[in-house]
Amino acid sequence: MKLSIYDRIGGSAGVQAVVEALYNRLMLDPEMARFFEGVDMVHMKRRQRLFMSQLLGGPALAEMPDMAVAHARAVHVHGLDDAVFDRFIDHLRTGLADLNASPLVTNEIVATLERLRGDVLGKGAHKRAA
Ligand code: HEM
Repeated sequence: MKLSIYDRIGGSAGVQAVVEALYNRLMLDPEMARFFEGVDMVHMKRRQRLFMSQLLGGPALAEMPDMAVAHARAVHVHGLDDAVFDRFIDHLRTGLADLNASPLVTNEIVATLERLRGDVLGKGAHKRAA
């Protein structure tokens, strides 16, 4: 049986390391850090870890947050768009490189998050009438 990425990167602790590496990078970039001003980062990183765990084949969440709803403020008030999303993915790649993740694992994690681009930006299939 093929192991999930979740298992291959070391389960919950592995995802936690990825989330820490990503947000450490985001916080060092003023263009990105501004999106998280006033956000409870402990709560945020916990939610992100649980959410990413499920995405990567780990334990399922009781309830999946709706990405369009979670990011509506970032999109409409702070201008989260494709260019910002690209930069987020760049930081994810750098963070994974910091962790010495293999190119294969890196590409699979990036591809998994890329699939949510439309939802995060509020133009995916789940877009709601505001
Ligand atoms: C595929 C990429 C992304 C994923 C999987 C993701 C995931 C999440 C999750 C799970 C939450 C918590 C939602 C909740 O529990 O209610 C969240 C919140 C948030 N995300 Fe993202 N996110 C992504 C991309 C981005 C990008 C590109 C930005 C902007 C730079 C961003 C900014 C935020 C902010 C500011 C919040 C906090 C919202 C609040 O508390 O008001 N996210 N994200």
